[in-house]
Amino acid sequence: MMAATAAARLRAGTRRAPALCRMPWLPLMLVMAAAAATSEQQVPLVLWSSDRGLWAPAADTHEGHITSDMQLSTYLDPALELGPRNVLLFLQDKLSIEDFTAYGGVFGNKQDSAFSNLENALDLAPSSLVLPAVDWYAISTLTTYLQEKLRASPLHVDLATLQELKLNASIPALLLIHLPYTASSGLMAPKEVLMGNDEVIGQVLSTLKSEDIPYTAALTAVRPSRVARDVAMVTGGLGRQLLQRTVAPPAINAPVSYNDTAPRILFWAQNFSVAYREHWEDLTSRTFGVQDLNLTGSSWNDSIARLVLTYDSLFGTMVTFKFTLANRFYRVSARYWFTLENLEIHSNGSVAYFNASQVTGPSIYSFHCEHVSSENEDGNLLVPDTQPSLWQMTFRDFQIQAFNVTGEQFSYASDCAGFFSPGIWMGLLTSLFMLFIFTYGLHMILSLKTMDRFDDHKGPTITLTQIV
Ligand SMILES: *[C@@H]1O[C@H](CO)[C@@H](O)[C@H](O)[C@H]1NC(C)=O
Ligand SMILES: *[C@@H]1O[C@H](CO)[C@@H](O)[C@H](O)[C@H]1NC(C)=O
Ligand SMILES: *[C@@H]1O[C@H](CO)[C@@H](O)[C@H](O)[C@H]1NC(C)=O
Ligand SMILES: *[C@@H]1O[C@H](CO)[C@@H](O)[C@H](O)[C@H]1NC(C)=O
Ligand SMILES: *[C@@H]1O[C@H](CO)[C@@H](O)[C@H](O)[C@H]1NC(C)=O
Ligand SMILES: *[C@@H]1O[C@H](CO)[C@@H](O)[C@H](O)[C@H]1NC(C)=O
Ligand SMILES: *[C@@H]1O[C@H](CO)[C@@H](O)[C@H](O)[C@H]1NC(C)=O
Ligand SMILES: *[C@@H]1O[C@H](CO)[C@@H](O)[C@H](O)[C@H]1NC(C)=O
Repeated sequence: MMAATAAARLRAGTRRAPALCRMPWLPLMLVMAAAAATSEQQVPLVLWSSDRGLWAPAADTHEGHITSDMQLSTYLDPALELGPRNVLLFLQDKLSIEDFTAYGGVFGNKQDSAFSNLENALDLAPSSLVLPAVDWYAISTLTTYLQEKLRASPLHVDLATLQELKLNASIPALLLIHLPYTASSGLMAPKEVLMGNDEVIGQVLSTLKSEDIPYTAALTAVRPSRVARDVAMVTGGLGRQLLQRTVAPPAINAPVSYNDTAPRILFWAQNFSVAYREHWEDLTSRTFGVQDLNLTGSSWNDSIARLVLTYDSLFGTMVTFKFTLANRFYRVSARYWFTLENLEIHSNGSVAYFNASQVTGPSIYSFHCEHVSSENEDGNLLVPDTQPSLWQMTFRDFQIQAFNVTGEQFSYASDCAGFFSPGIWMGLLTSLFMLFIFTYGLHMILSLKTMDRFDDHKGPTITLTQIV
C-alpha cells in the first residue's frame, strides 16, 4: 500500500517513468538479447552507502574471482534490508575494471583521474564494497532484483528530473541513471566521456546530500569495455594461427625467461629491432630461443622487476637494455597493476631513457601489443626522454609479464587498444556521411533561385504554368 503510493508519487515526478511501466517486456527482451551475445563476461560493481557497516570486507574478492548472482545477492540483501531505502543505480554502457586504473590517475596524478568524484564518494562513504568482476548474468538481472527487493519501480532519471523529485528517506525508490561510455559521435576519447560521467555522479550525489537523503549507490555497466584476450601463442600458437590464417605461421621461439628459484619475468616479441644513428639491427634471433643470453643484472621481487639484456658487439660496443617494471596496488580497482616504468639503453658509458608508462596491465595478466615502437609517430608506447633520440626501437607482437608468472607461459594478455578502434572508425565514417548529406543539402538550398517576377496586382497576373 505504502509502496503503491510511493510509486504513484514518484511517477508524477518524471515524465519518462510511465512509458517504462507500460512496456515491462522491453528491458527483459533487451536483457535476453544481450545475454545471448555476451555470456561469460564480467563487469565491475562498485557499491557504497551513507549507512555504516553494511558490508564486511569481502573475503573472496581476490583477483580472478568472479562474483556470481547468488553471491551478489548475499552482498545486496543486508544492504537493502537494513540500509537506506533510496537506491541509486548508475548504469554505464560499458565498463571494465581496467578503466579504473587506465583512467584513474594511474601515474599517481590524482588530479588527472577520470573518477575523482567516485573516489571521493568511496573515501567518504561509511561503507563501500568493490567487486572487480561480477558475472554478467547477475548484472543483467540486477535492476529486476532491486525492483523486487525494494518493491519500487525503477525510475530513469537525469539531473533535471532528480532535482524535481521529492525523495523521502522512508519511502523506497530505485533511481536509474544511465551513463554513456562512448559519446554519440564516437569521436570523444573514453577518458573525456568517463570524466563527464563522473561529473554526473558527483552532481547526483551532491543533490542527495543537499536534501540530506540517506542512500545506497551502485555503479556498474551493461557490458565490459575491454575483453582480456587469450594469447596462448608461446605454447600452442593455435589462437594466433586461426586469427592470421593468411600469414604464414612464423617460427615461434621460447620467450626470454628470467629465473631465480622459478621463472619470474617473461618477455617475447615476434621481431625486436634496434637502431643507432638510423642504422638498424635485428636482435630477434640473438634474443629469443638463445640459451646463453646474458641476463646479468636482472632482479626480481614482489614490487620491482628488472630484466637486463646485454649484447656484446652491437654497434661496435657492448649494449645493455634494462626493462624496469613496477607492481602497485590500486585501491579503486582493488587490484595490483604493473607498469613498465622505463626502458634504458646503456652503451659506451652513456644511457638513453625511454618512457614506457603506457605498457601497463593488471599484474595477473601479461601485456601484449601488436606494435611497440619509439619511432616518431602518434600513439607510440615508447617515448624517448631526449628528442631527437639517437636510439630507436621497434617490437612487433610485444608481450611481457613480470608478476604472478606461473611456469614458462604467459597468462592471459591485456591488449593495448589500437587508437583507431572499430567504434572510432564507425563514428568517423558516419560523421563524414552526415557531412556529405549536409553539404549536399546546403548546396541545393544555395542553388534555389527566387522567381524573377512577383505577383503585382496592378499588372497582369503570373500564370503558374511557367513555374510548374
Ligand atoms: C516521508 O513519508 C512519511 C510517510 O509517508 C511522512 O510521514 C513524512 O512526513 C515524509 N517526510 C517528508 C520529509 O516528506
Ligand atoms: C627457467 O626455469 C624453467 C623451468 O623451471 C626452465 O625450463 C628454463 O630453462 C629456465 N631458464 C633459465 C634461463 O634458467
Ligand atoms: C624484423 O624487422 C626488420 C625490419 O622491419 C626486418 O628487416 C627483419 O627481417 C625482421 N626480422 C624477422 C626475424 O622477422
Ligand atoms: C654479461 O653482461 C654484463 C653486463 O651487464 C657484463 O659485465 C658481462 O661481462 C657479460 N657476460 C658475458 C659472458 O658476456
Ligand atoms: C625490491 O627491490 C627494489 C630494488 O631492486 C628495492 O628498492 C625494494 O625495496 C625491494 N622491495 C622488496 C619488497 O623487497
Ligand atoms: C662506442 O664507442 C666506439 C669507440 O669509441 C664507437 O666505435 C661506437 O660507435 C660507439 N657505440 C655507441 C653505441 O655509442
Ligand atoms: C611518462 O609519460 C607519461 C604520459 O605521457 C607522463 O605522465 C609521465 O610523467 C612520464 N614519465 C616520465 C618519467 O617522464
Ligand atoms: C600475485 O602475486 C602477488 C605478489 O607476489 C600475490 O600477493 C598474489 O596473491 C598473486 N595473485 C595471484 C592471483 O596469484
